[in-house]
Amino acid sequence: MIYQIYPRSFMDSNGAGVGDLAGVTQKLDYLTWLGVDAVWLSPIYPSPMADFGYDVADYTGVHPLFGTLDDVDRLLAETHGRGLKLILDVVPNHTSDEHPWFVASRSSRDNPKRDWYIWRDPAPDGAPPNNWLGMFGGDAWVYDEATGQYYLHLFDKKQPDLNWRNPEVRAAMCDALRFWLDRGVDGFRVDVIWLMIKDALFRDNPANPDWRPGDSPGNRQIKLYVEDRPEVHEIVREMRATLDSYGLGERVLIGEIYLPLPRLMTYYGADGRLDECHLPFNFSLLERPWDARTVRQTIEEYEAELPHGAWPNWVLGNHDKTRIASRVGTAQARVAQLLLLTLRGTPTCYYGDELGMQDVPIPHELARDPQEILSPGYGRDPERTPMQWDASPHAGFSTATPWLPVAADYRDVNVAAEQDDPHAMLTLVRRLLESRRATPALTVGTVRTLDAGQPDTLAYLREADGGRVLVVLNFGATPYTLDLRQAGATGTVLVATGLDREGSIDLAHLSLAGNGGLVIKTT
Ligand code: NOJ
Repeated sequence: MIYQIYPRSFMDSNGAGVGDLAGVTQKLDYLTWLGVDAVWLSPIYPSPMADFGYDVADYTGVHPLFGTLDDVDRLLAETHGRGLKLILDVVPNHTSDEHPWFVASRSSRDNPKRDWYIWRDPAPDGAPPNNWLGMFGGDAWVYDEATGQYYLHLFDKKQPDLNWRNPEVRAAMCDALRFWLDRGVDGFRVDVIWLMIKDALFRDNPANPDWRPGDSPGNRQIKLYVEDRPEVHEIVREMRATLDSYGLGERVLIGEIYLPLPRLMTYYGADGRLDECHLPFNFSLLERPWDARTVRQTIEEYEAELPHGAWPNWVLGNHDKTRIASRVGTAQARVAQLLLLTLRGTPTCYYGDELGMQDVPIPHELARDPQEILSPGYGRDPERTPMQWDASPHAGFSTATPWLPVAADYRDVNVAAEQDDPHAMLTLVRRLLESRRATPALTVGTVRTLDAGQPDTLAYLREADGGRVLVVLNFGATPYTLDLRQAGATGTVLVATGLDREGSIDLAHLSLAGNGGLVIKTT
């Protein structure tokens, strides 16, 4: 399992109210205990923090808030010493406007770095060069008085987009990747990889007729001319080749991509070559309705679309989306973990979801997230609040007041309270990871959905080397008795959402609690 850490919110080692690298290192034993395989850190680079690190001012440094390069080296040594991998976030689509590259680029029209960014003349009436909108809301262009041109920013205006058609930009970013790979980093999660190349003709985007208030502000337009352009694949291949030069299969390339499944799959590589992302993030579970029928269709569609030999992956949460426990409720959150950790492929868990952490309401006046500031109601602060370690003040996250408030329920929902509680969500997640590792059908087995015969229920079989595991999930509150003899006559419960379920089980009369889930080894 990949475990995503939002460094500002994981563990503060020095009383700054903001998490740091030494804090992550302190908590590695927890991650090992839990059964994590790899840690992905959201950006740790120097940054004015207009988008909390996704506005990078130096690709090869560390923000003093988080620590130093020595802290990275220490963290690397400690993760590797425990058999874990460390994945960094890389943000190549845009820099901070305070990055020296952009400072040079905006200084004059003939600066050698001018073409490193996307500068365009105004329209004849002085308006922006085209109608493109930013993902956080508002125009994607900012007029620069001094040089009389507009620059493009798909996100905040403090995040100008790099010009990936310029070979010098590519070479510079490749050097940055090597800097970290040389230090021993195990791979990258690449921010908005599918947006890196824009239309060469800068054509207007069409309006999105399906956009409704409440949908994300970036979806007001169909992003036809800014996303998923054919030329982007060449860049992805280049990045992959850079990683592969450190040994085939040694370093991982993960792409952040929000696209319909058939288009997502093209980021594994064209024509069956698998020479792009190892894992184009699969956000289907985040994007689609939460019900048994949709999830079944999603599994079937995803599996059918996967290119031959491509390794699947599933994501249940991240720093941009409502937490799963808030979205589906506390009881369903357990079912969700059971699903995530028994599907075929690499699961990604967002820090705190293993505890059942919820979004924390943050009033607009206290918002820190630029998306909330530009588009009230769309903020991402609620899912970025401090990790809940124990019942002490500030949930054991910090000795100082944290940068975002701690959840009100932290005295009950925290690692210390859950670690020894057999009923806790954390215990369930740990058991699932344990079973997963010990059971080839769950780690490498095939997946086949079954007809569970009742609404709200989903069943699938995982199979490898003659071993068979049946997973049964109830997406509703009504209990059912199911006939699942198609999966075998009897079985033994490996993991269950409720503790009362142990030992052998008759698959002809399988009773499934409301909001319940079972992982059963069948015979
Ligand atoms: C995607 C990141 O996940 C998000 O947090 C960020 O705001 C944008 N990319 C811009 O970098």
